[in-house]
Amino acid sequence: MSDAVETDRRLLTVTDLRTTFSIAAGDVQAVRGVSFALDRGRTLGIVGESGCGKTVLARSIMRLNLGSNVTTTGMAEFAGRDLLSLPMADMHEMWGMELAMVFQDPMTSLNPLVRVGRQVTEHLRHHLGVGRAEAARTAVDLLKEVRIPEPEARLKAYPHELSGGMRQRICIAIALACEPSLLFADEPTTALDVTVQHQILNLLGREQRERDMAMVLVTHDLGVVAGRTDDTLVMYAGMVVEQAPTGSLFDDMRHPYSEALLRRCREEVPPLSAVDDPDHRFACWTPVGSPEGSEAFARNVAEGLPQAVAVDLTAPSLTGSGGAS
Ligand SMILES: Nc1ncnc2c1ncn2[C@@H]1O[C@H](COP(=O)(O)OP(=O)(O)O)[C@@H](O)[C@H]1O
Ligand SMILES: [Mg+2]
Repeated sequence: MSDAVETDRRLLTVTDLRTTFSIAAGDVQAVRGVSFALDRGRTLGIVGESGCGKTVLARSIMRLNLGSNVTTTGMAEFAGRDLLSLPMADMHEMWGMELAMVFQDPMTSLNPLVRVGRQVTEHLRHHLGVGRAEAARTAVDLLKEVRIPEPEARLKAYPHELSGGMRQRICIAIALACEPSLLFADEPTTALDVTVQHQILNLLGREQRERDMAMVLVTHDLGVVAGRTDDTLVMYAGMVVEQAPTGSLFDDMRHPYSEALLRRCREEVPPLSAVDDPDHRFACWTPVGSPEGSEAFARNVAEGLPQAVAVDLTAPSLTGSGGAS
């Protein structure tokens, strides 16, 4: 593949993105220098524990972190334009059309007072100037697409009349309505029970592939990205600590996720570096697989420090990258 073709496939390039909230107690550096690239039609998993900055990162790229106390620096080049320096009016035109987002809680992203049908057709009518009848037909098609039974009846319903899984399907239908080239899914299944979680993740995966849409799948659960994303970026405390093709990340995990190491890392931040595979980068003084890493792991276990993530990673169901679908 020539360079020109590869450049053409590049959809989003995020460079040294930093977001800080100024609050009374001081500055909260929620995102501290994140860089990554995403090609058209590809999927990126952003994984990390609660509070590590995943949502702020996604919202920063989307320019959804509103408020006078927020500062975002760096670049987020989307199809050749830096989203961070675009006038807000241009962003409004891009929301839904080019960039869309599915949030964790479908109840808070749907308007409880407005029938589902109007919410599904809103972008179509606003952005594409589609007439009422055609928008209604498209809405039915979209609901069928996201596997909602009796779509005509559901379009007349209010959000509270639907189950959590159905509401999330509606949110996905809304996000897909104008065929965006990039979809952010921010913990899209956290509020749902396990069976429904799988259905929704499968639905997102299918839509993403069929539409050649790029997707950023944000989750606190590493199990969610296994087999579902091309690349994965692991965040801790606003920074990327590991970044690799998802298969290679699970086969050859380098970051031990231990509280003690991270405490040490706070004193001196390790650079993101590669050892034997240039596509697999990690920021840790004592990578998994090294004698220092094994020592640190044993020490942390002996001290009773939280190892939840480390334990999950060794679970057989999470190894390899081609499994879940
Ligand atoms: N509006 C805000 N004002 C101040 N701090 C914020 C704000 N929004 C998020 N934060 C802080 O930024 C950090 C990252 O939050 P967030 O991106 O929501 O985490 P995640 O999505 O990974 O759980 C947290 O420490 C959170 O408290
Ligand atoms: Mg979040």
